[in-house]
Amino acid sequence: MKVGILGLGYWGPNLVRNFMAHPEVEKVYGCDLSDDRRNLIKSRFPAVEVLSDYNELLGKDVEIIAIATPVGTHFKFGKMALEAGKNIWVEKPFTATSQQAIDLNELAEQKGLKIFVDHTFIYTGAVRKMRELIDSGEIGEIKYFDSVRINLGLFQHDVNVIWDLAPHDLSIMNYLMPNEKIVAVAANGVANYYEHESVAHLSVYFENNSFAHFHVNWTSPVKIRKMVVGGDKKMLVFDDMENFEKIKVYDAGVEITTKEKIHQVLAQYRMGDMYSPKVEATEALALGADEFIQAIKENRDPLTSGKDGLEVVKVLEASEKSIKHRGQLIEINQVEMV
Ligand SMILES: NC(=O)c1ccc[n+]([C@@H]2O[C@H](COP(=O)([O-])OP(=O)(O)OC[C@H]3O[C@@H](n4cnc5c(N)ncnc54)[C@H](O)[C@@H]3O)[C@@H](O)[C@H]2O)c1
Repeated sequence: MKVGILGLGYWGPNLVRNFMAHPEVEKVYGCDLSDDRRNLIKSRFPAVEVLSDYNELLGKDVEIIAIATPVGTHFKFGKMALEAGKNIWVEKPFTATSQQAIDLNELAEQKGLKIFVDHTFIYTGAVRKMRELIDSGEIGEIKYFDSVRINLGLFQHDVNVIWDLAPHDLSIMNYLMPNEKIVAVAANGVANYYEHESVAHLSVYFENNSFAHFHVNWTSPVKIRKMVVGGDKKMLVFDDMENFEKIKVYDAGVEITTKEKIHQVLAQYRMGDMYSPKVEATEALALGADEFIQAIKENRDPLTSGKDGLEVVKVLEASEKSIKHRGQLIEINQVEMV
């Protein structure tokens, strides 16, 4: 296969490296407006052909165009690629609005092309292990999902911290809770460094009464990448800053009994053993690139498709509405109307 990468800024070079390393990729093109970025790629990967004009890239006989440009451009560049008959890899978050995501999904369907949305974490050993543990029934029913992703991060010029960081956590949540329906979202945050919020809290409510919370921040002096998944049998902790024991499974829980008439709630805590399962260390992007290539060959949707991209964008869009109204609860099926 031949692959074209649009956008060789911070993230694009990782796509170049991983597609170059794939045994079924015979040629990689890189495209960026910036001379510096093209020169950098040329010096690191001499076999990559670099271009400055996206239309020229679309004219090449590539099967995949990977779009690693700012969010606001994903729809325009994705549409152009689909219209030129290319399968598209789109960086997270998929699009800037849910309508754009719907339009790209429909266009791909009409053209018989595939969309891969780079929800990178789904291809990490840690997240795949968590899904395996949940699928096996060991964790039980998920009661809550609690996540912190904070550090001194790169301020994005076009989106706030929720749009930048929360797609990772939201995509993990959707992957771990595939059958749970999100009904409403509330977000709080503040834009007191520049025009976009740089610290924010996002709450997600599910139809089955489970709940998720995300804390994202570009201005924290410490780097924390931690999530807790509370099941009614066991609890999972994923700490991405750990080198070895990234996941811990706690045989811990709370059992509530109520005594009728006495109106008294009795909580019994259970704290048993903890263990840390082994997780695969293969680079997520290598697995993502392979998944997309195999999905195209097998004419099926990849594991992280445009549909998954749309589900994440719906929550981001609702969060934006909520944050502007100081945490107002936004029902997900009303997003299109507000
Ligand atoms: N999956 C992940 O973990 C992950 C991590 C970081 C960034 N990202 C995503 O990757 C995307 C890009 O982010 P970034 O931090 O690399 O941005 P960036 O600003 O560093 O790079 C974007 C590049 O696109 C180029 N570009 C813009 N318009 C162009 C055009 N018309 N033609 C050619 N080149 C053009 C710019 O010159 C720039 O080099 C975003 O969607 C971001 O959310 C994903």
